[in-house]
Parts: sequence; structure tokens; C-alpha cells
Amino acid sequence: MGYDHRTKAGNQADVAKHAALIVLIARRLSAGTGSGPIRYADVCAGPARSPAAHSPGLPDGAGHLASALALWPRLMRGSIPRELRWFVDRYAPPRRAAWKTYPGSSTIVADLCADSRAPLALTAWDIAPDAAASLREALGRNPGVTVHARAATPADEGVTRADVLLLDPPGIGERFGLRLADLADIARAAPPAAWTLIWLPILEGAEGDDAAARAWIGSLADPSLPPPRALGVRWPSRPSHGKMVGCLLVLRAVPDGPAIAVRSLLSWLARHVFTGAHAWSIESIGSWPADTRPGGTRFGMSAER
Ligand SMILES: C[S@@+](CC[C@H](N)C(=O)[O-])C[C@H]1O[C@@H](n2cnc3c(N)ncnc32)[C@H](O)[C@@H]1O
Repeated sequence: MGYDHRTKAGNQADVAKHAALIVLIARRLSAGTGSGPIRYADVCAGPARSPAAHSPGLPDGAGHLASALALWPRLMRGSIPRELRWFVDRYAPPRRAAWKTYPGSSTIVADLCADSRAPLALTAWDIAPDAAASLREALGRNPGVTVHARAATPADEGVTRADVLLLDPPGIGERFGLRLADLADIARAAPPAAWTLIWLPILEGAEGDDAAARAWIGSLADPSLPPPRALGVRWPSRPSHGKMVGCLLVLRAVPDGPAIAVRSLLSWLARHVFTGAHAWSIESIGSWPADTRPGGTRFGMSAER
């Protein structure tokens, strides 16, 4: 699974991952964290922002999302999920202007908490010194932010006290110094009530990896926790995405409500934004409950507060 994030920032894989992350953080904020901050662990954090000029996949990802929502009739804007409105309002350039940078996951979570006036305790790890330096420079003034220029371990306090974890390795295997078993060890070291989002690329011609990842999802099960489940998001192969033709979004220990909210938001994107030449197909993997709420899924960072 080869993957270099600097050239992939803001692509469809990032949109799927960041949409899911925003839902989980927003839901966690709605659920309340007592009087303390929300504790977010970003295990492969990447830089605070990536230059858009280096990322050929951005126009087909975040760029496509922003253009599609900009065409939405003004009167219908209220029907756009709040998470997406927040994301586009916060980061997309004004109409017809070019993207200059695309935010990394730690920046998105820090901004979402700041905009929600929610205190944050964010711990980020990245083995690349320039990524860690970028995070320290952008977020380090916030006393709740800790950045480690190294790999996370299951013993790290940022892991063992997390409320929400994001594990999105650039790849799995010796080249990346990360195995699926290492990710599982980190996920299992989090408190039982922590929600974990694990992102893995689906690469063309790597069906073996794909099958291994699916078997691995089952191995994350713990009878005392909500079941591990995943969404496979696939898109038509395109040169700007290299060999990546989709991604797996694995949810560990995420209760039914927020898990369904993640699936619903991605389904909304597949229905309204990533269609035609950009068409997403979404596969539910593992044990998913039916969404039986009257009137379908309600979106909302505040609607369900
Ligand atoms: C997929 S990108 C991160 C994307 C970011 N989380 C986001 O969503 O915007 C992967 C990052 O992981 C870092 N990385 C690679 N191997 C790592 C490891 N073993 N531990 C921590 N970070 C790692 C890379 O330096 C790179 O910056």
C-alpha cells in the first residue's frame, strides 16, 4: 500500500475521511465530555496544511465538493448537511478562486472545537519532522495541543486517555514501519468508550491487502464494545489519484448513532456530490443496524445537541 499524503491532500480519500472525522467530533461534542476537554489523538497527523499546488487530486475531491455545493440553490442550502456547510465555509476559497492550501486532520479538529467553543486536548504524532514542526507552529500556541515527532505507542497518554482517535497510516508494511497489528494495539489501548476511526487506502491491483484489511476489521471485535464495522468507498480510477481507487473507513467502538451518522453523510455525498464521472459507491462492511429513524437521517452538528 504505497501512499504519499503530500500529493494527496484534499483528494476524494481526504474528503471521505475528513467528513467522517467531522461527524464523529461533532457528535462527541454533542454527547458532552463532562467539564473537561474533548481528547483527540491523531496518530499519523500530517502537516497542519498542505499546499494545494502539490496535490493533483484536490480538484476532484474538496474542489469538486465546494463547486457542487456552490451551485446549490440558495433556498435549498438548509438541506446541505451542516458538517459539509461548515467544512466548505471554513476552508473553500471564494467562488472561482483557487485553493491555496488544504487543512490536515488536526487543523480541522482544532478549528471545529474552536468554532464550537469546546476545549480541546489534542495529541498528534508524525515521524516526519517537517509535519511535526508545521503542527507545532500552527497549533502549538493552544496549551491543549501536544505534538510528538515520532510514532505513537499504545502506552502514550494521548492514546490511553483519548475520546476520539484517528489512525490513518500512509501505508502498511515495512516501508512505513507500521503493521495492521500495530494499529490494532493502539486502538485497543484507548479507553473502552473512545471512538476510533481508521482509514486505509484501497489500491488497484492490491486485492490481497484489501482482503487482509477486511479480515483484520473482524479481529478488532470486543464483545463489550459496539461492533467494528467499515465503509468501503470506491471511485472511478483517475490519474490524479494514482493507484488509489477507494478507501476503507473502519469504525471501532463507535455506537450505532454516530456510526449511522457517518454512513448517512457519506451516502449523501454519493447521492448529491460524487456522481457521474466522480461516482462513489459505498459498501457497508460488518454489522450495521438499519437506519429506522422517521424521516430518514437527520444531520447536524447542532440539530441533535
Ligand atoms: C495519511 S498522512 C496524514 C494525513 C492527516 N492525518 C490528514 O488526515 O490530514 C500520513 C502522515 O503519516 C506520517 N507517518 C508515516 N508513518 C508514520 C508512523 N509510523 N507514525 C506516525 N506518523 C507516520 C507521514 O509522515 C505523513 O505525514
